[in-house]
Amino acid sequence: MKCRVCRAPAVVDVRRHNAGFCRDHFVRHCEEQVRRAVHDHHMFGPGDRVLVAVSGGKDSLALWDLLLGLGHHAEGLYLGLGIGGYSDESYGHAAAFARRRDATLHTVDLAADHGYTIPGAAAATRRSPCGACGLSKRHLFNSYALDHGFDVVATGHNLDDEAAVLLGNVLRWEEGYLGRQHPVLPASPGFVKKVKPLYRLGEREMAAYCVLQGIDYQVEECPMAAGNRHLGYKELLNDLELRSPGSKAAFLFGFVERAHARFAEDAAGQRDNLGTCRECGAPTPGEVCAFCRLRERARIAG
Ligand code: AMP
Ligand code: FES
Ligand code: ZN
Ligand code: ZN
Repeated sequence: MKCRVCRAPAVVDVRRHNAGFCRDHFVRHCEEQVRRAVHDHHMFGPGDRVLVAVSGGKDSLALWDLLLGLGHHAEGLYLGLGIGGYSDESYGHAAAFARRRDATLHTVDLAADHGYTIPGAAAATRRSPCGACGLSKRHLFNSYALDHGFDVVATGHNLDDEAAVLLGNVLRWEEGYLGRQHPVLPASPGFVKKVKPLYRLGEREMAAYCVLQGIDYQVEECPMAAGNRHLGYKELLNDLELRSPGSKAAFLFGFVERAHARFAEDAAGQRDNLGTCRECGAPTPGEVCAFCRLRERARIAG
């Protein structure tokens, strides 16, 4: 196969586009997809301070690299989840990347800063670790960005992640979740703006990007997430993609461009009329927010 642009030998093929790329033109292709996502959805501009949530995995490191390459002011935030060697190794990759690119990496550590870990929280609540993990991430990305003057939080969710979440939401017609599933969630009182600049790029593309750019990343999946529902949806979508290439992108982009707005209005209303958490000041419908309640339970149990 030859590069679609320059006809040199291709090193990566992107079946969805029925195209191969040489190294340089593949990197340009990734940059172009991010540039387009950022531009089309007004994610941020040159003067904005972007906080990239960096897990040490391929997606978030590729995202950070791409944003720096496009000239954005992007600092990283690593959240230590306390998942043993997996967390230590993940942090190592994030820190090594930051050193290499001379970029700023901020850290929040659940154990040191908040007195609990994800395995501890899962045991205390007897619920899936992913629930406690997702809640902690959402809360801490948001509060860190607000406390430190960032304009927007960017996460490394890619096309495969978003299509799998969309399939799950559609299968159960989760109207509220569908209304909030979008490459951009605007800011509202107590909530920073959140964006997903990689939603046009697939998992395979992000792995290829890191390899071609010499970025070392955490290859292991989180040991606590094994067998979770989204992994099953990803496999289903990959089977579908094999039979009809392009269907994953058509599913997700069609939703973003044509269906999301139908669910968005109801979801937006749910962010209004919130009070503030007695403990931490975050928006909440109750007296104490879900994060502070989780932290309290996990600390007592731990
Ligand atoms: P996941 O929820 O593991 O699929 O990760 C989705 C996105 O959340 C990643 O691409 C990162 O942007 C962010 N993220 C996940 N884990 C962490 C972490 N420990 N620290 C900072 N950001 C994270
Ligand atoms: Fe959240 Fe594993 S990364 S439970
Ligand atoms: Zn080329
Ligand atoms: Zn709180």
